[in-house]
Amino acid sequence: MLASGILGETAESMMRALKNGAGGVVTKSIGMEPRDGYLNPTVYSFQEGLLNAMGLPNPGMENYKQVIEKLKKESGGIVIGSIFGKDEQEFGALAKTMSSLKVDGLELNLSCPHAKGVGSEIGSDPDMVERVVKSARTHASVPVWAKLTPNTDSISSLAISAEKGGADAIVAINTVRAMAISARLRMPVLSNRYGGLSGKAVKHVGLRCVYEIYESVHIPVIGVGGIYTGEDAAEYLMAGASAFEIGTAVAERGPQVFSAVNRQLFAFMKKEHFSTIGEMIGIAHRQT
Ligand SMILES: Cc1cc2nc3c(=O)[nH]c(=O)nc-3n(C[C@H](O)[C@H](O)[C@H](O)COP(=O)(O)O)c2cc1C
Repeated sequence: MLASGILGETAESMMRALKNGAGGVVTKSIGMEPRDGYLNPTVYSFQEGLLNAMGLPNPGMENYKQVIEKLKKESGGIVIGSIFGKDEQEFGALAKTMSSLKVDGLELNLSCPHAKGVGSEIGSDPDMVERVVKSARTHASVPVWAKLTPNTDSISSLAISAEKGGADAIVAINTVRAMAISARLRMPVLSNRYGGLSGKAVKHVGLRCVYEIYESVHIPVIGVGGIYTGEDAAEYLMAGASAFEIGTAVAERGPQVFSAVNRQLFAFMKKEHFSTIGEMIGIAHRQT
C-alpha cells in the first residue's frame, strides 16, 4: 500500500499508485481544520532517505471529502483514510465523518514526530492511545488501524494499549525524530529544526518494531519504513507484518516502485520455495 503523506494530495495521484500495482492507498493525514504546515525548508533529501517536517499540512476534513469520494468512485480501489487530532473527541468526530465516506478502513496517526499537540506528542502516552483508539472504534463503521511512533522506549506498550482500545491492526512505523545541520550555514536545515527520518535509514528500526509488536499483540501488524525492494518487503513479512506500506521509495522513484516490489517479491518467493505470503509472515520468530 501507499503510505500516508506521499502522493496523497489528489485523487489522481493516489490513482497512479493503484494503477501501478499498490494493493491500496492510505490518504495523507486529515485533521478537523485546514492547516498550512511549516515554512520551507520542510524536506531534506539525502542518499539514505528523507528528513521532513511538513507540519501536517492538509485541507481539513470538509474540503478533503471530495478527494475521497472521487477516488472511491473512479478507482474502486482500497482506500484507507488517515486522520489526526488532539484528543479522543477530535479522533471520534473525524472517524465518524471519514467512515461515512465509505473508506475501507481508518489509520489513526498517533505518531507524527514534529507537530505540536498531535501525533507522537499524544501517541507516546499508552493511556491516551487506548482512549483515542476506543473513541475512533466507537464512531467508525470500518476497521481501525493505529499507526505508532518508534520515538518511545516501548512501542510494544503502545501496541498493547491500542489493542485494548479495540484496534483492528497496528501500523509501524512512522518517522524517527531527527535533525540535519548545515555545517556551511552553521544552522539546522529544516525551518522547524526537528523532523522525521524515513527511507533506507529507518528500515532496521521498523523491522525491530514490527518484530517486537508481533510478539506483544494478537492483531495483525502492518510494516512500513524503508521498503524499496521485494526483499525488504519479505523481511518485514518475516518479522511479522501481514501487509506493508511504502512511502519514501515512492517519493524518490515514482509509483512504478509498486510493480517492481511486487515482481521482486514474487521472484524471491519462487526462488526460496514459498507458495503463499502467509508462509512468510512471522517466520523469523520460529527460526530463533
Ligand atoms: C514527506 C512525508 C510526509 C509524511 N506524512 C505523513 C502523514 O501525513 N501521516 C502519517 O501517518 N505519516 C506520514 N509520513 C510517514 C510515512 O507514512 C511513513 O510512515 C514513513 O515515512 C516511513 O516509511 P518510508 O520509509 O517508506 O517512507 C510522511 C512521510 C514523509 C516522508
